[in-house]
Amino acid sequence: MNKNMITIRTKRRKYYDVFSHFYDLFIRLHSYKNSQETRAFLVDSAGLEHVKQPKVLDVCCGTGSVTLTFTERFPGIFAVGYDFSHGMLYKAREKDVNHTCFLVEGDAAILPFGDDYFDVVCCSHALYELKGDSRKAALFEMKRVIKPDGAVLIMEHEVPKNFVIKILFNLRMMMMGRTDAREFVKLGLAPYKKVFPDVILTHTKSGTSKLMTCRKE
Ligand SMILES: C[S@@+](CC[C@H](N)C(=O)[O-])C[C@H]1O[C@@H](n2cnc3c(N)ncnc32)[C@H](O)[C@@H]1O
Repeated sequence: MNKNMITIRTKRRKYYDVFSHFYDLFIRLHSYKNSQETRAFLVDSAGLEHVKQPKVLDVCCGTGSVTLTFTERFPGIFAVGYDFSHGMLYKAREKDVNHTCFLVEGDAAILPFGDDYFDVVCCSHALYELKGDSRKAALFEMKRVIKPDGAVLIMEHEVPKNFVIKILFNLRMMMMGRTDAREFVKLGLAPYKKVFPDVILTHTKSGTSKLMTCRKE
């Protein structure tokens, strides 16, 4: 990693550290009643009902809402929330009052886990926010750590139809400071199909989010 990349990553991490203080409130405003439905949809799609002590990795877990939905649904699960923002992980720790998950700080482009380890790897509403090179590396890392019969679940926003929510959505894109995120959202399944041989697209009932279920075999 060169010096410029370290500076960019450090700036972005700081941005997320500040954002962590009002992230959950922002999500409540942005997604209103859909955020719970969206998380439930992701966890239901994991197909873990018959897996004994499943292992789940939530990449870019933020304040841990998805990680904690997994631990509530499957007590005894081995769940790891992974994010590079100390602030986001601090909030996740506060929310996890019963210590149901492990929270690990690190970059999505380098996952400190062994090959073929997790039953499910998920990444919710975050991949589009990564820079192009990190995003590609993150997808390959997720592929590496998922079991051959496991599933990588990537959830992303659909472009909102509601006018006010569309403004909030575009504001977030602008805060990312690049056209890269907007372009990635428009590319559809292509970036996933470059990495995974099997990609299935589904949508939440409200249609506000899409889920890419990616398999490596
Ligand atoms: C929009 S939030 C999504 C949080 C959570 N997945 C959710 O659905 O609420 C994006 C998260 O990605 C994290 N993130 C961004 N780039 C990252 C990177 N390169 N490595 C690890 N985490 C990253 C941020 O710190 C932030 O917590």
